[in-house]
Amino acid sequence: MQNLGKGEASVVIGGQWGDEGKGRIVDILAKDCDIVARFQGGNNAGHSLHFDNKSLVLHLIPCGIIHEEKVAVIGNGVVIDPLVLFKEIAILKELSIEVSPKNLKISRDAQIILPLHKSLDALREKNTNQPIGTTLRGIGPCYEDKVARFGVRASDLLSKHLLLKKIENIKNNRQVDLSYHVDFVDDYLAYGQKIKPFLCDVGDYLENNLFLGKRVLFEGAQGTLLDVDHGTYPYVTSSNCVASQAATGSGIGCHWIKNVYLVSKAYCTRVGEGPFFSEANDEMDQEIRKKGQEFGATTGRPRRCGWLDLVALKYAKRVNGAKALILTKVDILQGLGPIKVVTSYKSKDQDNISFSEALYLYNLGEKVDVEYKEFDPIDDFPTNVGHVDEFPSSLKNLLSFVEESLKIPVSMVSYGPKRGQELYL
Ligand code: IMP
Repeated sequence: MQNLGKGEASVVIGGQWGDEGKGRIVDILAKDCDIVARFQGGNNAGHSLHFDNKSLVLHLIPCGIIHEEKVAVIGNGVVIDPLVLFKEIAILKELSIEVSPKNLKISRDAQIILPLHKSLDALREKNTNQPIGTTLRGIGPCYEDKVARFGVRASDLLSKHLLLKKIENIKNNRQVDLSYHVDFVDDYLAYGQKIKPFLCDVGDYLENNLFLGKRVLFEGAQGTLLDVDHGTYPYVTSSNCVASQAATGSGIGCHWIKNVYLVSKAYCTRVGEGPFFSEANDEMDQEIRKKGQEFGATTGRPRRCGWLDLVALKYAKRVNGAKALILTKVDILQGLGPIKVVTSYKSKDQDNISFSEALYLYNLGEKVDVEYKEFDPIDDFPTNVGHVDEFPSSLKNLLSFVEESLKIPVSMVSYGPKRGQELYL
């Protein structure tokens, strides 16, 4: 695993549909960084952390906040629900982690999720003939208002005049009755006063620190296959979740980004609707869910489970320009019987179709079949691993196969939720 040099930035990106265990990886990599920044998404994310016998799920504040002397940054590409922001600050305080403007910087230009965005999210899911299975956190409608150019930015919470003007625009431009949303303005102006000390020009802050030789880690949320452009559209989230968004969503140039780490589970999960070509659809689905505790960290919904999909992962590698893969939850493969990995897709007319071709056919209603390679079952998994040679031989074969297929190294493997249950390769 390449160490981050002074004045360099790295990005940790989900290679699947989110929930790859990025929080845990950011927690490990944050030790060697000075600043951890989020650049897209909102509290639709859920990054689980286990440290000092404590467990914590952060939905909005970057995981780096739990490390002393690290600064957490929320970039302009993020959508912020102020209720969630201040609830997380309170939860962190209960865990004796102080959050102040010294260790949390928020972009003035980040968009604010309003109560009416949550109503719109729910209405949309109810009234559509194509439900996405969103997290109902108001994420999509908030990004819609951003693009429509009347979204509320964090700095707008400091001006009653601006806030009222924007809310009026939002209400007038939606085709549904939102007049019942009347009482929240004063609450949001109060949030404005609370958020004010944290606000700054995040791009400026990051660049100045990079020039000073500080190391920045960008914490992706969701995953490549949920990206609004490159994911399984329309079954996606409403932001760009890929590595290049780290620059756009924080206000620095791309040249600062030296490493992109793609994170993938050793199998695959997704929540919500949409294509999932390697879905197990048999008793393995339940088996993986039970062993891997595959229930949403944000909504508690059971995740759909399936096998590692190398066609999708190769696509994710290309879209992100990933230089290394981090494989998580390899221990869950133990006791599942023969382990399968998807190696190719085919349609009724053609073998070896690409990921994007498969999506196109799926959206036309055509069937996409997958082909697997099988690996021997893993029966015994060591609790502590000091060297890759101690891994079961079947897992070693799988790791080599993944590296050969993706043509990038597997640079880290995690085999349990606790700090220390990971191996650098
Ligand atoms: P939204 O982001 O709430 O609009 O939901 C859009 C889709 O993205 C739904 O299928 C969600 O389940 C999915 N999604 C959003 N955030 C996450 C995440 O952090 N992990 C996994 N799936 C997510």
